Amino acid sequence: MCGIVAYIGKREAYPILVKGLHRLEYRGYDSAGVAMISDKLNVYKCKGKVADLEKFSESKDRKGSIGIGHTRWATHGEPNDVNAHPHYSGSKKIVLIHNGIIENYAPLKEELKKRGHKFESDTDTEVLVHLIEDIQQRENVSLDEAVRIALNNVVGAYAIVILSEENPDMLIAAKKSSPMVIGVGQEEFFIASDATPIVEYTKNVVYLDDEEIAIVNRKGELQIKTIRNENIDPYIQELQLQLEAIEKGGYDHFMLKEIFEQPRSIKDSMRGRVNAQQGVISVGGIRDYLQKFTNAKRIIIIGCGTSWHAGLVGEYLFEELARIPVEVEYASEFRYRNPVIGEDDVVIAISQSGETADTLAAIELAKSKGATIFGVCNVVGSTIPRTTHAGSYTHAGPEIGVASTKAFTAQVTVLTLMALLLGHRKGTISESHYRELLSELEAVPSKIEKILKLNDQIKYLASIFADARNFLYLGRSYTFPVALEGALKLKEISYIHAEGYPAAEMKHGPIALIDEEMPVVVIATKGASYEKVISNIQEVKARKGKVIAVVTEGDDAAKGMADYVIEVPETDEKLAPLISVVPLQLLAYHIAVLRGCNVDQPRNLAKSVTVE
Ligand code: G6P
Repeated sequence: MCGIVAYIGKREAYPILVKGLHRLEYRGYDSAGVAMISDKLNVYKCKGKVADLEKFSESKDRKGSIGIGHTRWATHGEPNDVNAHPHYSGSKKIVLIHNGIIENYAPLKEELKKRGHKFESDTDTEVLVHLIEDIQQRENVSLDEAVRIALNNVVGAYAIVILSEENPDMLIAAKKSSPMVIGVGQEEFFIASDATPIVEYTKNVVYLDDEEIAIVNRKGELQIKTIRNENIDPYIQELQLQLEAIEKGGYDHFMLKEIFEQPRSIKDSMRGRVNAQQGVISVGGIRDYLQKFTNAKRIIIIGCGTSWHAGLVGEYLFEELARIPVEVEYASEFRYRNPVIGEDDVVIAISQSGETADTLAAIELAKSKGATIFGVCNVVGSTIPRTTHAGSYTHAGPEIGVASTKAFTAQVTVLTLMALLLGHRKGTISESHYRELLSELEAVPSKIEKILKLNDQIKYLASIFADARNFLYLGRSYTFPVALEGALKLKEISYIHAEGYPAAEMKHGPIALIDEEMPVVVIATKGASYEKVISNIQEVKARKGKVIAVVTEGDDAAKGMADYVIEVPETDEKLAPLISVVPLQLLAYHIAVLRGCNVDQPRNLAKSVTVE
């Protein structure tokens, strides 16, 4: 969590920092701050969003061609002006921004206090900047050497940038377990948590590795060394990111844009990987690991939030199509429960951001037990793809709305391709069904186009239910994970309590909640469990619940029973999650807008959860 950005060069730093912070706001938005050096070091920070920071610093001296900026998601210390970054050293000559957690901050703070240090905030970050200055003064070393020594004494995760009044031509950055990318321009550098603040200035980037320190200066020099003092040759890569991909493009919110992008993003997930006519699937990342997969005793899928839901769909697909036993685990549970796992297991780690702390820790654990780790991630160059043995990117493009939409459908698309590929290879699926599913999959984007045309109808439905206090979502088999995902979308962005349930489980509890006040969204598309789901609708109706049913086009029977229906194009039930989730995303979106919620940045959430 937290976004960091920094600039050194010939341009004015403040506009670059603020624009960058807006782009990084998905990482946290409870307070923000900047520091620039003009004649002196100026620090402006306050509680609230980047827009609040802009107002706060409007009449202040914002000059300077070197600066750092931060947008925060609080871990240590409540979100307020004092705890906002940047944080000062004791002499107020050094300032630091930080993304991550310094786990041993308490003993370090005690030690520093004994040596006379006084702290203003409750943060772990302030301890680090005091420690750096303490080392610099006590050991009489350069600032970068003090940073290096300090980082050797730190336990935890960090991406930091340091600005010093006494070194106005230099920035020092370092990282461990939190992402950091450096944009290399003409005698200028941009440093950020991801490439979005950098893309319009340069396409040349260096991704810093764990325990590396970068020192950049105005002469255009970039030096990288490890915290063990080994020199590293910077590896400059070309950034594959377009500016349009990270702008709203005329939509009111990123979330709406991303929902509408799905026909394209699903195509992008399949691009170069599927040839339905020839019956060929080629997923680059899996090629060298095919045997590992086909011989796997078990696949374990790990993820968090929406990625975990995509994993559940994966479980149904891998078991049915490739006959490989699958377990789906919350990364946060898996990592702490001493799981039985070994060399014959393949772990699929799913993550949009590629940075989720629990997922990363679960990967490390599984790796240490000899399992093969395969990543399914969206953000190119992020930490998880660089930690796994192999993997496939989902290629959904940048997802900025905090509630995940197009990343989910892209994850499910890639998992479907993998399951089909393995099933075909193992002979656990007939050639004709394989080919049928491939053509069905290719048709999914145009079917989603059709659903998107229902936007106004769904908006109308949203207006009927915008004041509901609870919602129940029911699905069965392949659409059970969709019920979970629909409920998650609604609670994340509209703050309405919502629960997703397997339709048949309703009888074991949630049915007690049903009365005329309870909207129940039922995914009742055609498939093996269709009749059973229809019975579940009857059970809800018998208790006066209000049923909103997602049904297959032309299904008059379901239409007759539900209070409201959303008709979606027919597809094979294995692909139903890709189709039926879309109206639920739109329903959540419109309800949240009607309730006046901040759709793209819901309270207390962050897109990239880099703390456990
Ligand atoms: C956060 C986000 C969710 C996301 C989850 C997992 O909670 O708000 O949208 O599903 O993290 O993130 P990942 O990047 O690993 O998919």
